[in-house]
Amino acid sequence: MRIGCIGTGTIGSMLIEALSSKLPESPDFVACNRSRDKIAALVRRVPGVVAVATAAEVAQRAQTLFICVKSTDLEPVIEQIRPFLSPDHILLITASTFSVEHLEHRLPARVGKLIPSVAQLAGGGVILTQYGPRMGADARTTVDRLLSAIGTPIPVTDDQIRLFADLTSCGPAFIAGLLQAFARAAEHTGPIASAKAEHLLRLTWIATGRLFEQGFTPADLRRRVSVPGGVTEAGLAVLDPGAETLFRNVLTATKKHHLSRREGVSARPRDRSTGTDTPDT
Ligand SMILES: NC(=O)c1ccc[n+]([C@@H]2O[C@H](COP(=O)([O-])OP(=O)(O)OC[C@H]3O[C@@H](n4cnc5c(N)ncnc54)[C@H](OP(=O)(O)O)[C@@H]3O)[C@@H](O)[C@H]2O)c1
Repeated sequence: MRIGCIGTGTIGSMLIEALSSKLPESPDFVACNRSRDKIAALVRRVPGVVAVATAAEVAQRAQTLFICVKSTDLEPVIEQIRPFLSPDHILLITASTFSVEHLEHRLPARVGKLIPSVAQLAGGGVILTQYGPRMGADARTTVDRLLSAIGTPIPVTDDQIRLFADLTSCGPAFIAGLLQAFARAAEHTGPIASAKAEHLLRLTWIATGRLFEQGFTPADLRRRVSVPGGVTEAGLAVLDPGAETLFRNVLTATKKHHLSRREGVSARPRDRSTGTDTPDT
């Protein structure tokens, strides 16, 4: 199997590295990046990646294409590859703010939107998917099977995608922020440096993640740790209402940010090819 990748920044290189290490038979990758240093580094790290100079060349040499550029760079890429696209091409685009239907309407190719997560570096986590009407059952199954090697593909609708991405794609950063805050609070409270506290939390969470793998739910964890009248219960009594308010505020902020960007660019002409009307989230 040959897979193309246009844009080998954070997400493009992560997808290639994850797929090449997790698939039983590593595919051939043909990839390009605007600046040469990133693609050169990727070729050194991952055997089987062939670097080419342009997006057009990627589209000529592969039919399944990951397009991992920012929304603002998507339209130039589409224009570069458009003359080489056929109905056999499948474009899997990681920018969140374009219309799958609109793009399928304007191109002969089949189009899907993917929202990956840094968790795919560990071969897991969720990959949100949204496929255009032209992606038939066979194509969806093929793509889902490919993605399943590095995560769990979950289909989402237009009205779900923002919130779901907060949980699965932004989620690792939000939880990392909580761990850092926990460590700073520990330093503030007693005889421990925040770096040491962060180290203890990391060790604890590496193993706790394995408990989730074994089937533990958050409720199971709480039952195991918190006994009636104990110190954990006292802490949770503070955490529960505070954390819910905190996350409501976080989700309100991401939604507001998303909407304000939509309004901020609504005066600009909507991009003809991609239907893009907002920058990246
Ligand atoms: N980072 C995340 O956790 C995450 C998660 C889900 C979705 N996404 C989405 O995925 C997309 C990519 O994000 P990212 O974090 O990977 O961004 P990134 O690190 O900036 O990577 C984008 C890459 O695209 C390259 N590029 C731009 N125009 C190009 C062109 N015409 N031909 C070839 N390469 C080109 C850039 O090259 P240069 O080296 O010249 O800049 C850059 O390396 C964004 O839309 C983002 O919203 C990101």
